[in-house]
Amino acid sequence: MTDVGVPGRARVHREVVSYVRRSARMRPNQRRAWERHGADYVLEVPARETSTSVDPAARVDLRAAFGRTAPLVVEIGPGTGESLVAMAAARPGVDVLAFEVYAPAVAQLVGALARAQLDNVRIVAANAAEGLQHLLDEATVTELWTFFPDPWPKARHHKRRLVDADFAALASSRLVPGGRWRLATDWADYARQMREVLDAQPGLVREPGGRWADRPVTRFEARGLAAGREVSDLTYVRVPDER
Ligand SMILES: C[S@@+](CC[C@H](N)C(=O)[O-])C[C@H]1O[C@@H](n2cnc3c(N)ncnc32)[C@H](O)[C@@H]1O
Repeated sequence: MTDVGVPGRARVHREVVSYVRRSARMRPNQRRAWERHGADYVLEVPARETSTSVDPAARVDLRAAFGRTAPLVVEIGPGTGESLVAMAAARPGVDVLAFEVYAPAVAQLVGALARAQLDNVRIVAANAAEGLQHLLDEATVTELWTFFPDPWPKARHHKRRLVDADFAALASSRLVPGGRWRLATDWADYARQMREVLDAQPGLVREPGGRWADRPVTRFEARGLAAGREVSDLTYVRVPDER
């Protein structure tokens, strides 16, 4: 968190976040999807100050939200759900909790989930970093998916990248022993950064392997490939604490 402000005035905490705060204006079809099906999929979570923040006192009852208890997968930043919808449909036995900050994308995702008649996905329209911290207990997530996080390629923006050492420690703490964190990026130096921080994170061990075949190609991946960038898939497994 960075302090910004003018001397002599109250200082405002302006947080460094991994996303651009964009207009929440929706297209008519997105608004319709949200109005018709939002309540089925989007969990109401109290915010702190900005609309994408999470009140530290907020709680979600996942058993009530999903109507059952099942292994929990968390996706960070599914966008419109191009890969999420297919992957959730292929896994009816797991519950998927998705954190996505961009409201129009959430609306589109809601529409796609309703069309696919899926009932094993719920969405929190807020910052995943705060969501993981305040809404999820330690050792509760069987898989964490982070596919094509915003790359922030300019050096002066690297501090905005989601996957850094602090986030790695938080994410690792939410995984069950044996749980997996799957990541993909088409930015070579972000892949390098991911490997550096995750290799250094006690409790995480990299699992060798190439592209995760279950992951459908999304617009973001296709764009990266068309631009000649190489896609890296990384998988880390949470090992039990050494005590
Ligand atoms: C480049 S897009 C990738 C979308 C999708 N995963 C794919 O592969 O097609 C990144 C998405 O992550 C979302 N995002 C970025 N930071 C986030 C955060 N801290 N919490 C929740 N969503 C976030 C953005 O709004 C955007 O929709």
